[in-house]
Amino acid sequence: MEKTVASVEPIEWTEEGVVMLDQRRLPGEVVHHTYKDYREVAGAIRDMEIRGAPAIGVAAAMGVALGIRGSEARSVEALRADLGKITEAIGKTRPTAVDLFWAIERMRRRFDALAAAGNGNEPERVERIRRGLVEEAQQIHQERRDADAAIGRLGAALLPPSGRVMTQCNAGALATGGIGTALGVIRVAVAEGHKLEVLVPETRPYLQGARLTAWELQQEKIPLVLITDNMVGHFMKTGNVGAVVVGADRIAGNGDTANKIGTYQIAVLAREHGVPFYVAAPISTVDLTLASGEQIPIEQRSAEEVTHIRGLKIAPDVPAAHPAFDVTPHQLIAAIITERGVARAPYEESLRRLAGEKGSAASEGKP
Ligand code: MRU
Repeated sequence: MEKTVASVEPIEWTEEGVVMLDQRRLPGEVVHHTYKDYREVAGAIRDMEIRGAPAIGVAAAMGVALGIRGSEARSVEALRADLGKITEAIGKTRPTAVDLFWAIERMRRRFDALAAAGNGNEPERVERIRRGLVEEAQQIHQERRDADAAIGRLGAALLPPSGRVMTQCNAGALATGGIGTALGVIRVAVAEGHKLEVLVPETRPYLQGARLTAWELQQEKIPLVLITDNMVGHFMKTGNVGAVVVGADRIAGNGDTANKIGTYQIAVLAREHGVPFYVAAPISTVDLTLASGEQIPIEQRSAEEVTHIRGLKIAPDVPAAHPAFDVTPHQLIAAIITERGVARAPYEESLRRLAGEKGSAASEGKP
């Protein structure tokens, strides 16, 4: 089912099902789909209808809730068996964004807690779990909104009072379900009176910068200039860039950060030109089980996304590579802005202090 409405809410839980804004069709069309089956939600994550690490986490949680709600199991143990199938399908969609696994684990733990709190007869217990998981998914969504707001407040203070800032990919409302992480920082700074213009690299091959970030900033009336990815060095050298702020898909214990392909070269250029490079991400993106970025799994997407642009073939029949993410070493990162505070080097200590408490991929467990 499709309906066309104007909204920048990427995902919403409704009684009818999970409503998603189809990000593949932006900015040309604003189209929503309502999914009633967890397999459809898994497909939407895999096919980039919804993307951005925190939003992927929200979608995963809602997918689990949908699967459990739709399960025909009549006993807690049968429902648990279905939970296994549901989480397996959703867990196979995208490997780099740790929020996906973090959200699945949260849902699994909630299931266990609800199953253990076992008064009532079997049908009542099953019903309590179904309702409890819907509430947990909505709670995760609300936590993303709250985290973005806190990240925005903390990060805004790091941006210059005027001039240009650069971002990469789309780490905005579309990517989180809140106000965005990197774009949330920029939004709050502008709201507080910083006179900023945002340099937006188009972010080949999937063009999240050109299609999504440019669209979001335009909606918010935040001044921007769209550039191609190969203009980054030129603008770092000549363009009065006061800071770079990007999102993250997974942050290792030492601060090494996986983000959209192209982020690493921006960080190297920022270092060369003395521009501070900031990462903005919720604590759920920190994965303390990984000592360094070398252990972060990098998603390899289809070569066709490189040889074609929106269905148009732009290259001869040659091999093409498409690592969807790269890893920026912690030495290039001036600070990591989380909802619990701003971490600075040495990140082993600062991240452990912030993430060691409840809420990170490490403290909540992941596959
Ligand atoms: O492949 P995508 O579009 O899911 O990649 C998104 C990014 O790399 C974002 O920068 C990251 O997930 C942070 S979103 C707040």
